[in-house]
Amino acid sequence: MDRIKIIGGERLNGAIPISGAKNAALPLMIASLLTEDRLTLKNVPNLADVNLLARILRNHGVDLAVDGKRSGGAPHLGETFHLTARDISDTTAPYELVSRMRASFWVLGPLLARMGQAKVSLPGGCAIGTRPVDLHLAALRDLGAEIEIESGYVIARAPKGLVGGHIIFPKVSVGATHNALLAAALAKGETMIENAAREPEVGDVASCLVKMGAEIEGIGTSTLRIQGKSRLEGAVHTVLPDRIETGTFAFAVAATGGDVVLEGTRRDLLKTAFETLAQTGASVTDTDNGVRIARNGNGLEPVDVETQPFPGFPTDLQAQLMALMTRAHGTSVIRETIFENRFMHVQELARLGADIKLHGDTATIKGVKSLTGAPVMATDLRASVSLVIAGLMAEGETMINRVYHLDRGFERLEEKLSRCGARIERLTAG
Ligand code: UD1
Repeated sequence: MDRIKIIGGERLNGAIPISGAKNAALPLMIASLLTEDRLTLKNVPNLADVNLLARILRNHGVDLAVDGKRSGGAPHLGETFHLTARDISDTTAPYELVSRMRASFWVLGPLLARMGQAKVSLPGGCAIGTRPVDLHLAALRDLGAEIEIESGYVIARAPKGLVGGHIIFPKVSVGATHNALLAAALAKGETMIENAAREPEVGDVASCLVKMGAEIEGIGTSTLRIQGKSRLEGAVHTVLPDRIETGTFAFAVAATGGDVVLEGTRRDLLKTAFETLAQTGASVTDTDNGVRIARNGNGLEPVDVETQPFPGFPTDLQAQLMALMTRAHGTSVIRETIFENRFMHVQELARLGADIKLHGDTATIKGVKSLTGAPVMATDLRASVSLVIAGLMAEGETMINRVYHLDRGFERLEEKLSRCGARIERLTAG
């Protein structure tokens, strides 16, 4: 298994191109199931999760052709995917594939809407919590689906097609909003979704559905009104920049000190996280082609943060913020309100000398004068990258094991960081 070796202590200076958002690319690829025409997606990041979903979609009969990056093109512009689901040959998503990536469960709504039936494995648990799918199922039932659970599979039927309905989510869920939105685009009549997730990736999917012919009002708000169509068309859509990758590199620059332009990204995608970063003492400014992060000389101030659905502070940046705060001048408090078990990184950060106390959903981080490199283990996607940030700050060598977690969500991470002066390299298992 590959490992990543970091020798800490170098400042970051230069430019980092930001890739297309994984969390938008996945549901956008799934949207291809809704039409027999070609859906072209530009700026798709080259990631393990994207490749796994491509396998899952091919299994359903989707034809996928990929154009590579053009030489001389902007480095942050990823691959172009042409997806065509002319005939859906299989409406079953098997356990072997769905259990490896939770987002693949989102094929349920579109398959059901287009084919009138779908059998999709329950995703199962994962390292950051139980993550049930009750909200997904309730939403599809609101659109007229008949749903049974049998031997670990969700079996959904709508023999006469889905019909528009009124969905009120009791809790904000990104995935359930995607599933409902994708299904509603092919349902008969109007669907209203209340308490919808407002994450920019949901807005990106909705905009793509509009290009495909759906009528959607309220994009970017918590109330979506969708006029479903009996047929959707092909479209060309560019995946929006990855705000979690943006935030991760921004926190890394604040951690090491230095001055870096994050190219091809947008400040409005991360308003709260950038406000938090500014509170720590880093500067955040817009440039012509992205966002510039700098911290020169001054120390890190502690913060008090609670994760929240968008536009609040994202849970996907909680671990990275915690790594940063291990070196603050004072005590920070971070409360995780989205996932119950998303503190796997705490034990690993402690191996580098961090002083963190956990009490229920709250972590209290007392800043220390220095961290010292050590071997650590990646446990989930965002936790792994918090160890990279800590390793960049630590004295000496940090060796991160099980980096396949990182490859699920970060494109060429070590290359992007080393170009800015970090001493980081991948040791490939021989
Ligand atoms: C998505 C993101 C993930 C991010 C998360 C929260 C993708 C591919 N993944 O995951 O990176 O951390 O949003 O911003 O976009 N819940 C239920 N019942 C359900 C569904 C969810 O109780 O049916 C709960 C979950 O356990 C969790 C909360 O709702 O506590 C939010 O989860 P959700 O927004 O659905 O996360 P995902 O869509 O899986």
